[in-house]
Amino acid sequence: MKIKVGVIFGGESVENEVSIISAIQAMKAMNEEKYEIVPIYISKEREWYTGDALKDIDNYKDLENLKKHVINVVLYAKNNIYVLQSKGLFKRIINTIDIAFPIVHGTNVEDGTLQGYLGLIGIPYVGSNIYASVVGQDKVFMKQIFESCNLPITKYVWFFDSEYQNSFESVAKKIDELELPFIVKPATLGSSIGISRVNKKENLNSAIEEALQYDNKVIVEEVVPNLIEVNCSVLGNYEYQETSEIEEIMSTDEFLSYRDKYIGNAKKSHTKGMLATNRVIPARIDIKMSEEVRSLAKQVFLILNTSGVCRIDFLVDSKKKKVYVNEINTIPGSLSFYLWDAVGKKYSDLIDNLIALAIKRYKKHSKLTFSFENNLLSNYSGVKGMKGFKNKIR
Ligand SMILES: Nc1ncnc2c1ncn2[C@@H]1O[C@H](COP(=O)(O)OP(=O)(O)O)[C@@H](O)[C@H]1O
Ligand SMILES: [Mg+2]
Repeated sequence: MKIKVGVIFGGESVENEVSIISAIQAMKAMNEEKYEIVPIYISKEREWYTGDALKDIDNYKDLENLKKHVINVVLYAKNNIYVLQSKGLFKRIINTIDIAFPIVHGTNVEDGTLQGYLGLIGIPYVGSNIYASVVGQDKVFMKQIFESCNLPITKYVWFFDSEYQNSFESVAKKIDELELPFIVKPATLGSSIGISRVNKKENLNSAIEEALQYDNKVIVEEVVPNLIEVNCSVLGNYEYQETSEIEEIMSTDEFLSYRDKYIGNAKKSHTKGMLATNRVIPARIDIKMSEEVRSLAKQVFLILNTSGVCRIDFLVDSKKKKVYVNEINTIPGSLSFYLWDAVGKKYSDLIDNLIALAIKRYKKHSKLTFSFENNLLSNYSGVKGMKGFKNKIR
């Protein structure tokens, strides 16, 4: 019997479109002899839809029309079966799924929100659990954890919008600890949105205000000079980890902007996704640095107790040959398949590995003890209890 895989994508995040591209690529790569693919699209309005029309990228050009050809559903658990049920007056079970495969990017989906919901209804799901997902989305949490584990990171400070508005001096004092130039980022966004480089102090405020449009938490960090950006993907769980080929990201701007990442060569193809970025595979770094990058990538993966496939991004000062861990992407664009392809793992095999890992985790998780029988409630006498309560308030 085929495993019914619910591929969940979209969401209200600014990366909704990127997620559509990643998901459609993945659905195309899935082995249809093993899996029955059930696409589940979450719109920016947080409505969930299912239907085969969601498998074709061309249909997304007219989203309102697409919505007419798919069914608005909710996903929930009914007697340990995960059902997609239509909404509205006449509710019908449209489909069922055995496993969820989140291919989402950004706020309110990748950041543990979706993982939390899937965990709550008890369905096995692919990829990082809620904890790693949360940390992976917040650049401040991430840096705090990396710092405490002595991983090499850039010097940074952070603050909330309230601190900036109420006590600018205290924010200025923090930033004074850093050396120009700076990079200013919203703590929880991705795809370089809201990020700016500050070369002169007088431009700092506008950079902070730009970042504050996207988040109430801002991080300011020192720029890595003589920058080379390299990324390495890790596949596995806490028991074993494999590393992919390392890529080098070429930027056309001062830093890798949203345009570079996703729009780059988009004119040539709508479906290239992360492939559209200018990249060199393998990265032009020496063996010693490659080993360092791979080892750090595995450490990050383990420290966050993540699983599935993640991409860990590094900033390298090419003159000093110093490697800094920049961030982890718990659901990388295009699931980093091109980095696995480069070491001989086909995309369909990567997907098989991911589904196997999810099932393994689910089985293990089901055996763990989360509660134990106790007689707290059976010993609790409602009547007596209420009497006691009444006595107290008298
Ligand atoms: N400390 C830094 N020094 C130099 N460039 C940086 C630094 N931090 C970020 N960048 C540049 O900005 C880009 C986006 O920053 P990043 O932290 O990766 O955010 P995002 O989550 O949006 O990808 C990076 O790919 C890099 O080009
Ligand atoms: Mg990045």
